Amino acid sequence: MPFGGETSRRDVLKAAVAVGGAAALSACLEQADEPVPTGVSDPTTLPERQHAWNDYIRTDEHGNHMLPRHQVLWYLDLPHDGPPTADEQATLESALRTLDRAYERSHDGLLYSVAYSPSYFERFETALPEDLDLPQPRRLSDFETPEFDTQDVLVHFASDRPDALLEAEEAMRGERDTANATEVSATITDVLDVADRRTGFVGAGMPADRQDVAGVPEGDHVPEESPLFMGFVAGFVGNQATEDYVTLESGPFAGGTTKHVANIRQRLDDWYVEDTYDQRVDRMFSPIHRVENLVEGVGANLGDDNGLTPEIVENVRDHAEEFGVVGHAQKAARGNRDDDGNVRLLRRHFESTDDDVASLHFPTLQRGISAFEEVREAMNGTDLTDVPTIRQRVNNGILEYIFVRSRGNFLVPPRHLRSFPTPEGRTVGE
Ligand code: HEM
Repeated sequence: MPFGGETSRRDVLKAAVAVGGAAALSACLEQADEPVPTGVSDPTTLPERQHAWNDYIRTDEHGNHMLPRHQVLWYLDLPHDGPPTADEQATLESALRTLDRAYERSHDGLLYSVAYSPSYFERFETALPEDLDLPQPRRLSDFETPEFDTQDVLVHFASDRPDALLEAEEAMRGERDTANATEVSATITDVLDVADRRTGFVGAGMPADRQDVAGVPEGDHVPEESPLFMGFVAGFVGNQATEDYVTLESGPFAGGTTKHVANIRQRLDDWYVEDTYDQRVDRMFSPIHRVENLVEGVGANLGDDNGLTPEIVENVRDHAEEFGVVGHAQKAARGNRDDDGNVRLLRRHFESTDDDVASLHFPTLQRGISAFEEVREAMNGTDLTDVPTIRQRVNNGILEYIFVRSRGNFLVPPRHLRSFPTPEGRTVGE
């Protein structure tokens, strides 16, 4: 526990969200000098899309969306067999409405979404619609051995304010009577058990500050300006699917989306100690990015787009032969466009030091899980391993440094179905 006697106040605050609980919250509350903005009096006025976050978070000067700096994932299980009851549905909805009233739906207050796994829907007698692309999680290559997250429910909380995030959690666990001065009469843990709590962060300075973990070599290798442990900026707006694009257009869950969440362990010794900066650019972006000096520092100079041209993406095999290496982004992008050139995935990944290991929580939103699986297959680059210099994990993007630990698939229903939906797209008890 980082709350021991010699631990500095700064370390306590740095680890607050990772540790969680009342002591972490009070450390953050002492530090907070601004009130947390309150939510709406009528939660039904909030957007129907739970995943509509982009209008409620910061953007940088290029219009790239900046994810909230602190994030928490609650993996939850119903405490009994069979489907939830109408009473449980009412309790969950009441708990969520408390959050809606307590915190402004924004990076300054609290953003959250509630998602359901295929295993949850198996509790019901009826099946999900056939055209809903939501399989159970599976292995996506023969070089990974993930655990599968089959818990019923995933609640994803995010905020720039650690005090808001921790207080919301405490309230939803029944540890507080109020949340941002709003009375709490029902909680999430009244009806669901927390099977796992996972935490993370994203944004300039945060990985550098937290690099003293397994997976990052000793020394100050992670650049201060980097939002991620691997030292580059990701998620340019030009290379992200829009929220409109990932939204289900028809069927009982219209207005919702699907969510894949992987956890990926990073081992960055060779990345930082053996590889040069140029090699990191080769491996992360493409050899053309290196030859043409497209990337400076952490890559913020790229602006609103990662600089991949159709030629760079189409010529991956030629680059493998010419340069003996292929980039992660150029390889993955092969699967990440539809026939009209639209980007298919909305990546919302963030870093973690859970268990004192550097890992990445990798949520992506897409219309169907197979879109994610196809992009991952393109990123695997197994099709390139007949080129003599390219091995499955060597000179093949960033695969030498990242290891998938878990995968889970979820449906993020539209808001009116966020509390215990049925497979037919009603709420339990309706
Ligand atoms: C530690 C793990 C990872 C890191 C640090 C990372 C970082 C990056 C960076 C810096 C870029 C270039 C900038 C951008 O377009 O965002 C990129 C591109 C991309 N990444 Fe990753 N990534 C990781 C894992 C993954 C995984 C697991 C996937 C899932 C399949 C993925 C999918 C993509 C795609 C599709 C692109 C290209 C975007 C396009 O289509 O133009 N990445 N990544």
